[in-house]
Amino acid sequence: MYTVPKLEDFSPAALDTAAADLLAALKAEAAAVENESAVEQFRIRWTARKNGIITQIVELWLKSAPAEAKRTVGARLNELKSEIENTVKVAKAVGLIREAVPGDIPGQIAFAKNAILKVERVDISLPGIVRPLGVRHPVLRTLDELISVFVKMGYSVAEGPEVETDYYNFEALNFPPNHPARDTQDTLFVSGQEQKAQRDRLLLRTHTSPVQIRTMENLKPPVRVICPGKVHRNDAPDATHSPVFHQLEGLCVDTNITFGDLKGTLDHAMKSMFGSAVKTSFRPSFFPFTEPSVEVSISCPFCGGKGCRPCKQSGWIELLGAGMVDPNVFGFVNYDAKKLSGFAFGMGVERLAMMTYNVDDIQQFFYGDMRFLEQFA
Ligand code: FA5
Repeated sequence: MYTVPKLEDFSPAALDTAAADLLAALKAEAAAVENESAVEQFRIRWTARKNGIITQIVELWLKSAPAEAKRTVGARLNELKSEIENTVKVAKAVGLIREAVPGDIPGQIAFAKNAILKVERVDISLPGIVRPLGVRHPVLRTLDELISVFVKMGYSVAEGPEVETDYYNFEALNFPPNHPARDTQDTLFVSGQEQKAQRDRLLLRTHTSPVQIRTMENLKPPVRVICPGKVHRNDAPDATHSPVFHQLEGLCVDTNITFGDLKGTLDHAMKSMFGSAVKTSFRPSFFPFTEPSVEVSISCPFCGGKGCRPCKQSGWIELLGAGMVDPNVFGFVNYDAKKLSGFAFGMGVERLAMMTYNVDDIQQFFYGDMRFLEQFA
């Protein structure tokens, strides 16, 4: 009967011999297993936690191995351990068959052995875990496209804080103190600031226009900047409104800047985004910080201006606000309104993304639904 020897020599050759002796004994004992009780004895002798052969080899071979040999002995023991466990499993099945079917039926036994080992084997034909690559969100993709259109025209990119003061968001943009946009209906104010002067009160910026003021405070004219960013309004969500959305602001200030420059710039930008057949239309509007002010629409890129559902049969889609910088605004940043003129514009990026990708509900951009987002991969 095999007994686990103590090892003195832990060289690979000595380990080979010891492992070969052990495996020969394992094979011989497994072959002798004839019935259920023999299976159980075989299992206990080789795998019992208390003094089974696996436990013994750990005690006698691994624990007594010198530090430098522990790694190789450990690896060898792992191999032996799994060989022993597999053999016990096969022996169990074979023992049961032998007991149930007297006499040796080699075909059945071989079949059972194979079946058991097959189940144990790693199935390398299973597909691996597919980790899909992420892509830019359609809103950010639209923003990137817009930025590159303006960068090609010589604009640089400026950024400002999302938590703004009343001064930058309203006052320096020439909003009178009682303007309705200051009302908490539209603007999300940080609470508990009643002690502060109105101009210092913090709020979530409602547009990217405050970055115009911050830019002019820091840069001498001429200025050509675009200011992309997130803005917040207390707007109820619907198909075209979201309480959080993105805007792209533009500001151009120099000597002799005219309304013609504003029209040409925006017409070129819209054609770059939606194709050269698209027309732009400028209708009078009002913003406190521009005079004159305009709402800019483009001819519907879906129907070419004939009228369809996205353009509500009008042939035009309103996309942005713009105008010539009001001289009062120059007064807030110490620019000489007598020498300088400029234009500014602000567009909703989600609305442009809706047009670019033919999306009819702005909320789709924020649900995080993979079925929607995957279409942009
Ligand atoms: C402004 O915010 C001005 N600051 C734009 C401006 C800049 C005018 C510079 C003149 C000079 P308005 O409130 O219209 O304007 O918003 C601009 C664009 O943001 C709209 O045309 C629209 O495309 C988008 N927008 C407005 N509210 C929402 C909303 N709740 N959800 C999604 N997009 C919105």
